[in-house]
Amino acid sequence: MEVITTKKALQEKRHNKKNKTIGFVPTMGFLHEGHLSLVNQAKKENDLVVMSIFVNPLQFGPNEDFERYPRDEEQDTRTAKEVGVDILFIPSVQEMYPNDQAIHISITKGTDVLCGKSRPGHFEGVAMVLSKLFHLIAPTHAYFGLKDAQQFAIVHTLVQHLDFQITLVGLPTVREADGLAKSSRNVYLSKTEREEATSLLKSLQVGQQYVQNGEKLPSVIQEAVTQYLQTTTNGRIEYVSVLNYPELANISSTNEQIIIAIAVQFEKARLIDNLILDSYGKQIERI
Ligand code: PAF
Repeated sequence: MEVITTKKALQEKRHNKKNKTIGFVPTMGFLHEGHLSLVNQAKKENDLVVMSIFVNPLQFGPNEDFERYPRDEEQDTRTAKEVGVDILFIPSVQEMYPNDQAIHISITKGTDVLCGKSRPGHFEGVAMVLSKLFHLIAPTHAYFGLKDAQQFAIVHTLVQHLDFQITLVGLPTVREADGLAKSSRNVYLSKTEREEATSLLKSLQVGQQYVQNGEKLPSVIQEAVTQYLQTTTNGRIEYVSVLNYPELANISSTNEQIIIAIAVQFEKARLIDNLILDSYGKQIERI
């Protein structure tokens, strides 16, 4: 595995691999099995796998956890090598953003709901860093976990609107044995919160059951999920939403592909989770 820290070296490397298919796995590091499942899929479908590790300051708000976001570059480098990444790109903030931001990406679709509501500028920051990484790496495929389903939908819009020639692959959320979605932020949970956090998936399954039983009204499903969360966790429920997917628009009936999405704020960790379902309540795990 080659570790690259500069944009110039990365572009040169890409230039020398012109005819290869490249699977790109963008990450913010502190790698867990969710990331590794993306690499494994990328390996199956491409000649080379490029992973980036970059905690992108542009996607963190002023009161968010940029400074204390968990980082372990040495361990991540070992893990990336073990899992078979070919090129690991680990730039510094200065390397990625050498100048004051003179260009700003503004997104008008899919950002006024779910996490976009409480994290203004977050998806614009994601779009900026991904646009740069897509230009530098020129991947043929890019791999994302569907735990961040809103991000995946917005990246789709980005790729479509900016004409990136990249096939996006959305892969199933990887979970702990008790159902908690793997996330770098799980390390912030206290012991009690960690136990309570299992109710996130269970609450979504309550919603899924409603859809499977023929419930069509998003408000009824939302209410059932909210009630379950309220009785099983002390975390602050930030949102419980039922929208269509990938459009992320409000709907009056669940007669189409939907997402049931939740966010719960614990003391030091804000957790998100979701299920994407067809109109019969069957889970769509891969997109
Ligand atoms: O999902 C993430 O880890 C980040 O948002 C991403 C896609 C690496 C961009 O910084």
